[in-house]
Amino acid sequence: MFDKSIELFPIKQETAYLANCGNAPLYSHGADEIAAFSSARTLTGSGPVAAYGQILSSLKRSLADLTGAESENFSFMKNTAEAMSLIANGYPLSEGDEIISYVHEYPSNHYPWLVQQRRGARLVLLDDTDPIGDLAPGRPRGWSMDDLERAATDRTRIVAISHVQFTSGFAANLAEVGEFCDQRGIDLVVDVAQSLGALPVRPEEWHISAMAGSGWKWLLGPVGSGIMYTSPEFRAKLDMVITGANIVVQGTDYLDHTWNLLEDGRKFEYSTVQLSYAAALGRSISEVFCKYDPQDVRDEIFRLQDVFLSRVDTKRYRPVLFAPEHRSGILAIVTEGDLSEIVAKLAADGICVSARGGYLRIAPHFYNDDDEMIRAADALGSLPQS
Ligand SMILES: Cc1ncc(COP(=O)(O)O)c(C=O)c1O
Repeated sequence: MFDKSIELFPIKQETAYLANCGNAPLYSHGADEIAAFSSARTLTGSGPVAAYGQILSSLKRSLADLTGAESENFSFMKNTAEAMSLIANGYPLSEGDEIISYVHEYPSNHYPWLVQQRRGARLVLLDDTDPIGDLAPGRPRGWSMDDLERAATDRTRIVAISHVQFTSGFAANLAEVGEFCDQRGIDLVVDVAQSLGALPVRPEEWHISAMAGSGWKWLLGPVGSGIMYTSPEFRAKLDMVITGANIVVQGTDYLDHTWNLLEDGRKFEYSTVQLSYAAALGRSISEVFCKYDPQDVRDEIFRLQDVFLSRVDTKRYRPVLFAPEHRSGILAIVTEGDLSEIVAKLAADGICVSARGGYLRIAPHFYNDDDEMIRAADALGSLPQS
């Protein structure tokens, strides 16, 4: 059912690419979009730039299709950190307000909140919970709803968490967290860099106020592309912390400085953007991710992980296994030895995996196949024991 062809995913010629949680390969037709855009610029100058609005609106229509959210609630961004910074710095926080997050978040969803301390806000970090009881000191795992409930107070304004933790692969149950936040009037802000394109993401069903993610992981887009979602109510709360020509209704009438802000997600696309990247990301989302049901993509990823698990020596390469609702595209593995050496040895065999937070990460995407999973398991099995 999935088109896993080498024409679409030329990386497969040389590499079993199981690092889609890192820097995933660019979708081949996305690369065509970048080349076509650049070529048109050399020949016509402003030609493709004139299609500005249309490129961005078609990207947003695809995002709407993928997530079931309204297209006008999306903004095209450079990366997750840019979006989180716009959100965190623009949010009305007063002395004593609290933001709840998790102790091992990726920096793009940590520092934007940390710096809110200068406004007198408190960043409250949920600790690790280890339901299995074999957590090595300092090795991240995940957090619990019980801890979140205990941490929430009447000063909590924001819960800012990743859908999927970049180290252990722990996935939050966002429907549950969203319900919790909605009942208490807390804004839920989610980093979806490790989930959008791999797991279903439904911001409007799950009471998510805002979310941000990168285009260059599971969405197979260019490095330097990202997305932001804001609900209309949440957007209305945000102050403008970065401004430029593109935030106002009067468009190219640049000498009209009336403070007449756009109301939809375009207001955060403050100035010129990487249009060819937006075109590439839009092509990948519309042509690949909107073609499949996100639940089928997720199930194929899990099936491929299971092929790996059925082959690898799980005593030597111990998987971090979560309950189904906390599972994700990242299968974290605990093993002895120097992880960067293991990654390098596999790379020499044409197998790309990654390591973060003390784990080896096996992160197949739907375009991988069973043979690639088996090759990875066998290559790990053939490494000398340390
Ligand atoms: C959870 C998470 N958020 C964000 C990012 C990337 O952030 P940015 O788009 O700011 O580069 C990563 C990259 O590994 C990540 O794992």
